[in-house]
Amino acid sequence: MDAPRRPAADPDFRHDVLAGLAARPRAIPARWLYDRRGSELFEAITRLPEYYLTRTETRLLEAHCPEAAALVGPGHAVVEFGSGASLKTRILLRGAAPSAYVPIDISGDFLRDAADSLREDFPGLPVHPVEADFMAPIALPDAVAEQPRLGFFPGSTIGNLVASTAVDLLRNMKRTLGVGAWLLIGFDRAKDPAELVRAYDDEAGVTAAFNLNLLERINRELGGTIPVDAFRHKAVWNDARSRIEMHIEAVRDVAFTVDGTEFAMAAGETIHSENSHKYGARDARFMLLAGGWAPIREWTDEEERFAIVLARAEPPRFAP
Ligand code: AVJ
Repeated sequence: MDAPRRPAADPDFRHDVLAGLAARPRAIPARWLYDRRGSELFEAITRLPEYYLTRTETRLLEAHCPEAAALVGPGHAVVEFGSGASLKTRILLRGAAPSAYVPIDISGDFLRDAADSLREDFPGLPVHPVEADFMAPIALPDAVAEQPRLGFFPGSTIGNLVASTAVDLLRNMKRTLGVGAWLLIGFDRAKDPAELVRAYDDEAGVTAAFNLNLLERINRELGGTIPVDAFRHKAVWNDARSRIEMHIEAVRDVAFTVDGTEFAMAAGETIHSENSHKYGARDARFMLLAGGWAPIREWTDEEERFAIVLARAEPPRFAP
């Protein structure tokens, strides 16, 4: 009997994995960490004692959404970039008196489920999901064409991007939302590297499983022969670049194939799988300004672990 055929692989995934394993240093874009299993593991990460980000940001939103909403005013279309399960969104929607909600996500299934559950919780709020890669400028649904906009980009997701790409994204968000639009965005703050490493290399090994799932996914979807037990999760602080890096390190010499292509790694060599940049207060504001957004108000917790910033898309100007 024939072996069960694996479903057709995503050509972009195949390309990124083959190119990333052939490159030096080896690196695979972090977005491929988030298949169904990876998204479940990330949800588990957000509940870990060491992973202070989600908890801290949720508290900040609960405490300060009313004030943000008062500054912005009612009747805005809330546009969320990379909405996922839309959990933090509920706090914002409860406080903001929005006219509509536009979740943007690359994963259509996830997006429709999240939109349905949101419609249940907010009857009467028009929800217009958009299945798209939020990195590019996006045409918003006609239904919100005439409405003022409030962008929402929580989670310090911007921290996944190197500075030049982060600025490109902010500029694209401005094109999508328009001059005069608002943006509520989360930034994880720079802090003691030991605390950061703990947040990305937890005691229970959930982050390790999240990272190593990339290899399982390659085996599952691309017919890889990677011996996953020959690898370990590694989280390191790169001070020069102000970021936590996740790597997948070979603990012994290994050889494997992916979709028929042969690869070899010596013990100690790594595949770079994610960056998570950390920002000083001025770094975050400067980044927003570089992308065309004026910081208006900022809220942080007692220990200044995390910050949410309310910014506004500035009109172009020809003089200081
Ligand atoms: C979803 C990108 C914000 O960088 O903190 C958590 C992803 N990776 N633990 C982060 C992540 C490992 C997370 N972001």
